[in-house]
Amino acid sequence: PPSVPERIEEKRRAALLGGGQARIDAQHKRGKLTARERILLLLDPDTFDEYDMFVEHRCSDFGMDSNKNKYPGDSVVTGRGRINGRLAYVFSQDFTVFGGSLSGAHAQKICKVMDQAAMVGAPVIGLNDSGGARIQEGVESLAGYADIFLRNVLCSGVVPQISLIMGPCAGGAVYSPALTDFTFMVKDTSYLFITGPDVVKSVTNEDVTQEQLGGAKTHTAVSGVAHRAFENDIDALLNLREFFNYLPLSNRDPAPVCECHDPSDRLAPELDTIVPIESTKAYDMLDIIHSVVDEREFFEIMPSYARNIVVGFARMNGRTVGIVGNQPKVASGCLDINSSVKGARFVRFCDAFNIPLITFVDVPGFLPGTAQEYGGIIRHGAKLLFAFAEATVPKITIITRKAYGGAYDVMSSKHLRGDANYAWPTAEVAVMGAKGAVQIIFRGKEADAEAEYVDKFANPFPAAMRGFVDDIIQPSTTRMRICHDLDVLAGKTQSSPWKKHANIPL
Ligand code: COA
Repeated sequence: PPSVPERIEEKRRAALLGGGQARIDAQHKRGKLTARERILLLLDPDTFDEYDMFVEHRCSDFGMDSNKNKYPGDSVVTGRGRINGRLAYVFSQDFTVFGGSLSGAHAQKICKVMDQAAMVGAPVIGLNDSGGARIQEGVESLAGYADIFLRNVLCSGVVPQISLIMGPCAGGAVYSPALTDFTFMVKDTSYLFITGPDVVKSVTNEDVTQEQLGGAKTHTAVSGVAHRAFENDIDALLNLREFFNYLPLSNRDPAPVCECHDPSDRLAPELDTIVPIESTKAYDMLDIIHSVVDEREFFEIMPSYARNIVVGFARMNGRTVGIVGNQPKVASGCLDINSSVKGARFVRFCDAFNIPLITFVDVPGFLPGTAQEYGGIIRHGAKLLFAFAEATVPKITIITRKAYGGAYDVMSSKHLRGDANYAWPTAEVAVMGAKGAVQIIFRGKEADAEAEYVDKFANPFPAAMRGFVDDIIQPSTTRMRICHDLDVLAGKTQSSPWKKHANIPL
């Protein structure tokens, strides 16, 4: 019989081969990389320390205990490594072993890295590619999912959790990504759904393809389940590396600081003319964001969903910041159900992980109508208000143009503990636009009323006179002001009354 060292070697070799060459070839043929190839691309070279290569599933039903049905490591590769030198824990499901399906052992391996990540304070990255619960294992597998879900919840707000969907993810399996902070997808080769097209057909009689039901386009543009989609495995993993650089390792860690070659006192003269004179004319909030942040680099989150609000990560003088901006180019930048939820979730992530918030405001109010009211805009809009109010990270707000009505209050206003609130000369802080206001107060009978209203309210003075904005600033100096404030606010501490947890409207 082979010696122990020989058996160790043999098992290692087998683990590296997963479900065998034929299945690896099939994986490649679909344009997908293997679980191990993905880890190598994600992590810095030679930094992967693998755990549990010898773990095997323990199922004996349906002939599973025969040697040909045992794969060292089972259907997931787990361990830790470094991304640009910073620690990360990862699991990568191996579709070549029982379709990456989740056995009790598979779940146990994932739980081990999650527990360690929470203990030492480092993010967890899950590369998902799985046929779901291991059918042969029954409830053992369901228990495994629940063990992971519990850890997703307990880790929430402790270490960043990122899911990258790189193949199927169906049934109960979808709830782990849903509980993590960010879900990214690979175009054409990944999908997420509760039940597949066949079950949908039999229950609701709808004809729908896998891609229509749960592909990257559906989840990044329609459902809002996923935050970004990438072209292929390589593109997704390289973007994930870039994204990782913005994140603190844990809630005990400050936002990371990178070396910055963009001067913090750089003026941006293009901003002085960016807001059109006619207040009904649109412009692109992304142009403002790009001009203000370091090196024009902005990692947008949910760029295709609720486009009337823009959220994402950037750096100011090398320090990670979270940016929120109304987008006048889409639906005049109004707040509606989807944009409120998108904004709220982002703000809460930033607050949980010590990332300062910069908010650019140009908002004409909440979107009126039965669709919005019946859909619960009151309760959903309250989420964004709640998120900004509870956030204790440094909060800097710039009103570029409209800040109307309740939406003015919501958008990180002074009243919600904003630390530095500025207005550009083009700012209009008012209950509503001049036309609507005059219609209501004077029923259109006073010819001069509109001019009077504009003179009184369609400018930054009423807010500035009351100290609701700290200063009226020249747009070109915006970057300089923000960098300055962030330096000062780095030492900010602020607390809220003791509570078990708050009860954000859901
Ligand atoms: N449990 C055990 N084995 C599974 C599995 C599961 N949930 N899902 C897939 N497999 C196995 C298949 O038996 C096949 O094994 P083989 O390589 O020995 O032939 C292998 O994984 C690949 O699956 P296959 O069906 O050939 O791949 P596909 O790309 O055509 O389809 C799925 C992928 C995921 C759509 C399909 O496998 C599927 O529907 N699986 C079941 C999904 C499910 O209902 N899971 C339970 C809900 S949580």
